Amino acid sequence: MTSAQSAEETMSSASDKDTVAAQCAPPSKVLVQQGAEARVYRSDFFGKPTIIKERFVKSYRVPSLDQKLTHRRMNQEVRSMARCRRNGIRAPAVYHIDLKQRTIHMEDIKDGLCVKDFIRNLDMGSDELVLNELVQNIGKLLGKMHDCDVIHGDLTTSNMMCSPQGENLTLIDFGLSSVSALAEDKGVDLYVLERAFLSTHPNTEHLFEMLMQSYSQASRNAKSVVAKLDEVRMRGRKRTMLG
Ligand SMILES: Nc1ncnc2c1ncn2[C@@H]1O[C@H](COP(=O)(O)OP(=O)(O)OP(=O)(O)O)[C@@H](O)[C@H]1O
Ligand SMILES: [Mg+2]
Repeated sequence: MTSAQSAEETMSSASDKDTVAAQCAPPSKVLVQQGAEARVYRSDFFGKPTIIKERFVKSYRVPSLDQKLTHRRMNQEVRSMARCRRNGIRAPAVYHIDLKQRTIHMEDIKDGLCVKDFIRNLDMGSDELVLNELVQNIGKLLGKMHDCDVIHGDLTTSNMMCSPQGENLTLIDFGLSSVSALAEDKGVDLYVLERAFLSTHPNTEHLFEMLMQSYSQASRNAKSVVAKLDEVRMRGRKRTMLG
């Protein structure tokens, strides 16, 4: 073997090693959002655009309790996303869950906008039709979600995504979700949304009313849920009056 040959072989085995190392290295990730409970990264999972949600350690909590709470939330999040998807309700597909690393790898909703920003960027007057259609779609989706007994637990327009045209409504952030058939739980879920909706988007009472009309048409148990929503509202008002 000439020295040139051996140098070439050494170089090619070094570059093979580099290729293998690159393939084995964890994919790079870019921070999208740092929340109070979790960090959200954009990455890829075997070539698929992926969101990684990592629930970090809360140092002020007793470690065993922190782990228990985090694992419970991660399990709820994954279960509810899967239950929604089985029932034709848009939610990200789950690719992988790692309890030790406290991460969920899920489908990246491509070109998805947060519904909160989408609404804020619209003009209440000239974009009325788009807004009406959007809130009707939200009502319909939530009616379907409640019919399969998923309680989201944190319904806000930040936890909904849509396309830049306001279509393909998708629910995210199921960390506080649960499964329940009780009208009371569904009523509370809608009450949380009502409070969040009206404070995030002032002077939109008519839009929330439209959302509820659409919910009522879409859901089988709407009557008892709406009755519970009224009860919860009354309790809320009493609490405010009493201070
Ligand atoms: N599957 C996804 N595809 C695209 N973007 C996403 C996805 N999941 C989350 N995001 C982006 O990350 C942001 C935060 O995500 P998410 O609401 O799940 O976390 P969070 O509110 O910080 O969590 P938590 O309330 O559980 O502490 C979203 O508003 C959205 O912009
Ligand atoms: Mg959120």
